[in-house]
Amino acid sequence: MAESSSSLETFAHYDFSIQFVQRCADEFQWKDLSEDVVMDIGCGDELNCCKAIIIQFPEVKALIAVDTDSTVFETARFMNRIEFCVGDIRERDSLESYEGKMDKVISAHTFHYIIDKETAFRNAYRLLKPGGEAGFFFCVNSYMYEFLTVLREIQNYEAIIKDTFALNLYATELGKQYKELLEKIGFKHVRAFEEELKFPFSLDECFKDFLEVLDINLVLSPEDAEKFKAIILHLYEKKFGKIERNPRYVSVQLSLLGVKPMESSD
Ligand SMILES: C[S@@+](CC[C@H](N)C(=O)[O-])C[C@H]1O[C@@H](n2cnc3c(N)ncnc32)[C@H](O)[C@@H]1O
Repeated sequence: MAESSSSLETFAHYDFSIQFVQRCADEFQWKDLSEDVVMDIGCGDELNCCKAIIIQFPEVKALIAVDTDSTVFETARFMNRIEFCVGDIRERDSLESYEGKMDKVISAHTFHYIIDKETAFRNAYRLLKPGGEAGFFFCVNSYMYEFLTVLREIQNYEAIIKDTFALNLYATELGKQYKELLEKIGFKHVRAFEEELKFPFSLDECFKDFLEVLDINLVLSPEDAEKFKAIILHLYEKKFGKIERNPRYVSVQLSLLGVKPMESSD
């Protein structure tokens, strides 16, 4: 899957990673991680969650940064105590050597890419030691989904918009379903927090970045692409309004937390 590291993403993800790690720390009452090995699934080249852990828990025993895309490790800045691992949370075999060894598994801004979430959550469960804790933070709904759905109805745009991961994945997802899914897998003390996030884009550049994030395939001449961008910017502003004269981005993010029971044999 194509990934973008836009300025908007980088800024937003670092900020949200810090908040997400703080939420895990509060909910699980993390105080001292000097005996804990933490795995970050979908670490990305910015290693945002790993950085957030190191800032809040500088004494953490070890961090294992996992990403399916090996190229993220070419640009990721090496940090002491971080082990890099190319692995895919959808593929049990790719992480088998870590099974039953992790004290914590965390993941931010990654599970919304995954269609078969049950398999991925199950694999995360297997990675944990009995008593281990997992936290997942990902987008479960986005105004962009609704917007793209509207746009897709407009003649000529259907082909351009089709196959975006947003259209494929955001359709009917709800936090409650995921809470139940984690419980079905065996997690205990499952908690789900949904939050609506709103922030303004800084006009064209960020909006362009955002379109790239959505994997929108602009199979257009440069001239037509400019026209297309102007039209969708106009439609987007009309539909969702502005914050401080900028287009507004709204999404619903889910924090999903659970504990693997001590008695679990899986
Ligand atoms: C949007 S980035 C998020 C990076 C970082 N967690 C953050 O919050 O800033 C998503 C990352 O997840 C990785 N990823 C996507 N699907 C994955 C999977 N099935 N297993 C492991 N990593 C995956 C992508 O390669 C990408 O680097």
